[in-house]
Amino acid sequence: MITTAHMSLFSVTQILVAAVLSLLAFVVYKHRHKRYMLPPGPMGFPVVGCIPLLDKAAPYKSMTDLGNKYGGVFMLRMGTRDVVVLHGYDAIKEAFITKCDTFKGRPRMVLSDLIAGGRGIVFSTHNENYREQRNFAVSALKSFGWGSSAFEVKVMREVNGLIEAVQKFEGKPFDPFHYVRNSVCNIIFSIIFGRRFRHDDQDFRNLLTIHYRNMRLCGAASAVNFIPILQYLPFGNFKRVLKNHIYLRTCQIEMIEKHRQTHNPTDIRDFLDLYIQEIEMREKKGQASSFDYDNIRRVANDLFTVGTETTATTILWSLLYMITYPNIQKRIQKELFDVLGDRLPTIDDKPKLPFVEATIMEVQRSASVLPLTMPHCAMEDTELYGYHIPKDTMVMANLWSVLHDPKHWENPEEFRPERFLNENGEVEKPEMFIPFSTGARMCLGDQTAKMELFLFFACLMQTFSFTRPEGTSPPTLVGKTGITLSPQPFEVCAHPRVR
Ligand code: HEM
Repeated sequence: MITTAHMSLFSVTQILVAAVLSLLAFVVYKHRHKRYMLPPGPMGFPVVGCIPLLDKAAPYKSMTDLGNKYGGVFMLRMGTRDVVVLHGYDAIKEAFITKCDTFKGRPRMVLSDLIAGGRGIVFSTHNENYREQRNFAVSALKSFGWGSSAFEVKVMREVNGLIEAVQKFEGKPFDPFHYVRNSVCNIIFSIIFGRRFRHDDQDFRNLLTIHYRNMRLCGAASAVNFIPILQYLPFGNFKRVLKNHIYLRTCQIEMIEKHRQTHNPTDIRDFLDLYIQEIEMREKKGQASSFDYDNIRRVANDLFTVGTETTATTILWSLLYMITYPNIQKRIQKELFDVLGDRLPTIDDKPKLPFVEATIMEVQRSASVLPLTMPHCAMEDTELYGYHIPKDTMVMANLWSVLHDPKHWENPEEFRPERFLNENGEVEKPEMFIPFSTGARMCLGDQTAKMELFLFFACLMQTFSFTRPEGTSPPTLVGKTGITLSPQPFEVCAHPRVR
């Protein structure tokens, strides 16, 4: 029979064991960090490490707080792996620019292995595959007019499609989410797969919804990257990601197969055709290379995903900020009218519209659509800020900590486009404005993204006045975390401009 005396003895023993184990863990942790000169950081908990210390809804904010405590370079034990976090501009510059050759790798992770298998562009480490695929992608996209006036024509077709779709609501409330994503997606989709879709195409809407859901789940499921055993659970987010991934992969394989069957070297229709030509050319020459029917899908998926998600999310944020700050919207519309009268803007008008450009930059800064870069990794043993960083350590740069750093931005939580204008009213881009990251792995699509953001935003502002639906309270400006930070669902009313 267990008596009260036994019970309290048992508890005291338990407490003592726990205390000794904790002390031991602390000593081992301190010793390891000191002996190997590892960056400082919180100790965390057994098994899960520092995962519970990060706010699930805003891990970049928890990392910013930790950075303020531990400095520009700190380390988090996350499940089974060490992660070095770069906090603030100086640390990111030191790692990604000064030591760019060392920190241009990508780590292997459960989720990125599922999606890319170490191939493609975005999740490939810096190796021959990466060089070949990135160089090919850039030159192939350029051959389809990427970034040129032909690209502007493609973007404007989608801008006009979006305007038409919005007009149909005749000022009544609607959720812009699907319309914006469909329009932005059509741009990159038509270049890669040679197809675009109507806003009411139900199959395409499903595909985009599943794609979006996976982007969200990848954020929530990312614990699996740090505790890989979670992938074997018969339930949970990883299983959902897997199911969605299989669906998207099947759709992509079908499209590639159709292209392969109808391929005609004298009629190159799109990116896939050009890629197939490259595979065949290399096969004929008997040349070993990274071009094959597996990698074509990985690269197409990379470009489709990053080309759609970030840009569409930024446009959605811009609408949300405009309904929140109607005076800023009015000032934009005045600038547009003073410079252009009634006509729609073109990309050549951009230098004459500094307030429009400054507002887009402020949306990018405030919203920080990618608050953490894709993970990098150290390609060799190295030193950073006097700390030892072992080869293959995962490195995350906290862009949020830079874009919201009160040292660089006065009242960073205030939405104030003027911060990007100098005393002559001209746009000035501060060095620490890095929404596209920096260094060797910086965004490959920054120039075209800027063109898309300008044309969509300026044309929407020129055509409509956006308000929040009457009688509703102001929507939240707190984002939803996934791979990107996106707005919570919101509705707008688009009133035709009365000038
Ligand atoms: C507003 C829009 C966009 C933003 C804010 C953005 C931002 C970023 C960021 C922060 C990264 C990670 C860089 C790093 O790991 O250090 C990235 C990577 C990348 N982005 Fe973008 N991006 C945008 C649009 C685009 C577009 C339109 C494309 C075109 C297809 C694109 C293609 C890529 C690619 C391929 C990478 C991977 C580069 C590499 O690993 O070497 N992005 N982007």
